[in-house]
Amino acid sequence: MVDVRDAAKALAGAGRVVVFTGAGMSAESGVPTFRDALTGLWERFDAQALATPQAFEDDPDLVWGWYEWRRSLALRVAPNPGHEAVAAIEAHAPHTVVITQNVDDLHEQAGSTAPIHLHGSLFTPRCATCSRPAEPSREAAPEEGRRLAPPRCEHCGGPIRPGVVWFGEALPAEPLEAAVQAATECDVLLTIGTSGLVYPAADIPVVAAKFGATVIQVNPQPTPLDAVAAFNLTGTAATVLPALVSAAWPLS
Ligand code: APR
Repeated sequence: MVDVRDAAKALAGAGRVVVFTGAGMSAESGVPTFRDALTGLWERFDAQALATPQAFEDDPDLVWGWYEWRRSLALRVAPNPGHEAVAAIEAHAPHTVVITQNVDDLHEQAGSTAPIHLHGSLFTPRCATCSRPAEPSREAAPEEGRRLAPPRCEHCGGPIRPGVVWFGEALPAEPLEAAVQAATECDVLLTIGTSGLVYPAADIPVVAAKFGATVIQVNPQPTPLDAVAAFNLTGTAATVLPALVSAAWPLS
């Protein structure tokens, strides 16, 4: 894997590293991606009926039940060697910023200190009316596809909603600003397991390349980000990332 060795040299020599991840990062932990053929969530479910503000307004029980089912999946999985390799990069390259589109907490479980969640998290529900944070529900999660009435806000009585970003919603301003700032300052950006199709998140690797960073992509499939990647490492997160880290820091 000549490319891995060359990519590892760039990674080891970087002063500032950004690791940008998508659903493929968690695939080998057993978390479904969105657009993979057959298994992708948007291949099996209707995003318009589940992942928009209108969907929640029209049928809060359906939407809340679906996200509680996804949260129950996230509670049952563990980080894979790819997540552990990302935490190892942070240990070797102190100025590493992890930016994720994922709403699971597998980066945190693997030891990444403060990943930036551009699309929110399954673990930070809030009131849909007054936006006060709410405790994750202790109710038993529903089976796939079962409706569940959302809990009510203790403060205003409004319905509790998932703490994720839905289609048509703006990304949280501070995480987005921090992510763009990190992308403009980094020497190397690793983009892992994202189809690069959903904006503005998909712009992060493009911004990094525009500001002179070396972009390294890890994905078994080609994506639009091939165009900005100096290295396209074809393979999965849990296989390529550990090889990349051991090539970059051999004595580790
Ligand atoms: N390792 C690395 N990459 C993988 C693996 C793996 N084991 N398995 C699949 N992939 C790649 C696929 O080839 C694909 O390019 O991961 C990518 C997953 O793409 P998507 O399912 O589109 O997920 P993502 O890019 O994170 O989607 C972005 O879309 O629906 C919204 O909010 C949702 O955050 C999500 C956003």
